[in-house]
Amino acid sequence: MKSRFRCFAAAAITVILSGAGALPAFAQATAYSDKPALLLGAAWYPEQWPESQWDADLAKMEAAHINLVRIGEFAWSTMEPLEGDFRFAWLDRAIALAEKHHICVVLGTPTAAPPAWLTTKYPDTLRIDENGIRAEHGNRQQFSFTSPRYREFAHQIAEKMAQRYGHNPNVVGWQLDNEYAAASFDPEAKAQFHQWLRKKYGSIGNLNNRWTTAYWSQAYDSFDEIPVRAEKENPGLLLDWKRFVSETWRSYSENQIGAIRPHADKRQFITTNTMGWFSGFDEYTVHSDLDIAAWDDYIGGENYDYFDNGARHDLTRGFKNKNFWVMETQPAFVNWKSVNASLARGQVRDMAWQAIGHGADAVEYWQWRSALNGQEEYHGVLVGADGAPVPVYAEVAQIGEEFEKAAKALAGTSPDSSVAVINDYDSRWAIDFQRHNNNFDPVAEMVAFYKPLRDQAQAVDVISARSPLDKYRLIVAPALNVLPKDVADRLLAYVKGGGNLVLGPRTGMKDEFNGLNVERQPGPLAGALGGRVEQFYALENKVPVEGDFGPGTASIWAEQLGVNAKDTQILARYGVSNGWLDHQPAVITRKVGKGTITYVGAWLDDALLAKLTSILLKKSGVEPIVPHAPNGVEVCLRSGKGKAVMILINHNKTDVHVSLPRAMVDLLAPAATERNSVDLPPYGVDVLESK
Ligand code: GLA
Repeated sequence: MKSRFRCFAAAAITVILSGAGALPAFAQATAYSDKPALLLGAAWYPEQWPESQWDADLAKMEAAHINLVRIGEFAWSTMEPLEGDFRFAWLDRAIALAEKHHICVVLGTPTAAPPAWLTTKYPDTLRIDENGIRAEHGNRQQFSFTSPRYREFAHQIAEKMAQRYGHNPNVVGWQLDNEYAAASFDPEAKAQFHQWLRKKYGSIGNLNNRWTTAYWSQAYDSFDEIPVRAEKENPGLLLDWKRFVSETWRSYSENQIGAIRPHADKRQFITTNTMGWFSGFDEYTVHSDLDIAAWDDYIGGENYDYFDNGARHDLTRGFKNKNFWVMETQPAFVNWKSVNASLARGQVRDMAWQAIGHGADAVEYWQWRSALNGQEEYHGVLVGADGAPVPVYAEVAQIGEEFEKAAKALAGTSPDSSVAVINDYDSRWAIDFQRHNNNFDPVAEMVAFYKPLRDQAQAVDVISARSPLDKYRLIVAPALNVLPKDVADRLLAYVKGGGNLVLGPRTGMKDEFNGLNVERQPGPLAGALGGRVEQFYALENKVPVEGDFGPGTASIWAEQLGVNAKDTQILARYGVSNGWLDHQPAVITRKVGKGTITYVGAWLDDALLAKLTSILLKKSGVEPIVPHAPNGVEVCLRSGKGKAVMILINHNKTDVHVSLPRAMVDLLAPAATERNSVDLPPYGVDVLESK
């Protein structure tokens, strides 16, 4: 009982002690003195509807407590119907009318959908795919991200918008483009890639050496000979192509940021909307120039994996190490899955509060009302083609009412965690290029570690290995395959200073050029670990694992570990399987400086991994926020500015009873009520403030 109080009180007290202005490492994404701290929004496309209907649409939004719309992305042909003929009067009126209904605006630059006159007159702006086929006009995202001409047009339209709305008090921010995704393989992209390589390697001899091009006679005489391919190529080339693509999206953003920032008030943020686990580029690179992170949260139907979705929120929060926005999410269902099943009644609310619990400061539905034609006629909406509410509208209105109730308490708060999972794009790509076992999905492996940690600690950050590490008691690097010396040095300094580091299978196999480290895994950390990987095995069958923390199995991947320091302990061994692994170490650990390094050489089954993480958390002194929370109940805590607000979500289809660590004030109850426990119906939510 004592520890129950201690852990929660500790979190709240830390916050209170931190005092005004001293926020935890993660802070609120946006804070406007004249706007609520929590925003509820919808994607609205006024250009698709007669102006006579706008007021009725906005009135229905206001009635649902919607106080934010995103406008403009995809509206290029309405903003500039002919080259150089700019028409913004309709947008002026749409923004003003939204303001009349107390709805603020995020403006999207329309560059994900160039108008037909542009791509017809300047076909060099169209992207070319890996097979050399140039896109035709139509659909969207048909532009080349390297085309200098396209960038000129993008700069111009963004600048025109910023000149007009950069000081508009009702415009709170900017979304660049929409869901960056498709790279181009056109001659310009190839020339820029060559230039990028030239700058990185200095001489072709250096590149040949780093990529070991003696293999298959790949040796190049000049940078211009290097092919551009995204698969089935030299691993060094493949990794550099991904890095080049990341830098190119970054400069694609910079081009528009350069157009907007000089004309925009500082309070207006600039972001772009990303896609969770999407691995087309390195989000940390792209986010270095953005003010906040934002993402589009789409999931499957009723049986959605709330841990995976929570991990994607935490991932997005880690792009800027502060709160973020959910720029799009589904009003019950989407139109692009094989079965577009609807969320059950109550789950839209469950998802909205999950987003807030993980650090979102805004949740926006895509979309308000479907266009009468176009590719997305079946997608979930809040009102039908007739402009009248569909069933989920009432649930969204309830969310809006609740956001209003909780906004004040949640203002200036954010999640805080002493546990982190490392997300590393280089490593994810390197594994994806050569999975060795096709079932080794690096994201699934990361989520396999994340799940028990989130379940047991109830707060996890997902961060880059180059993020500040000091505040964490436990850091798990699930498969840090590419481990450059500087990252290894940071991790080792963290351990020596008292941190507990856990390395998953395949860690440290590669150098920064995606070549093999001469020293066996975990490469530059093998010396500190006092052990190494003797051999790795892709598994067809399960392998028994027996450890201090119980028996279980490994599947997909198992490494035979060796120990070469007296004080390196063996925590688990394999049972009898392929002969090579029999009785060999599977998990080892060593004290280093004031901390520990643990190496987990196999993909352990969920139950066994949960036992291991529970021991690791205990050893690291991490306790849950709400001990003994029922299964399927998600606990989130946001703190800051002397406040601590807990969000409880019952993801189960059955009722649950949750005992609180101490009396708290129920913010959603009709009148402020103190509670020691909470009863939650299926998909039920409660928001409670610590007093
Ligand atoms: C994406 C896009 C939106 C819309 C939705 C539909 O997230 O950004 O324009 O197409 O998907 O789910």
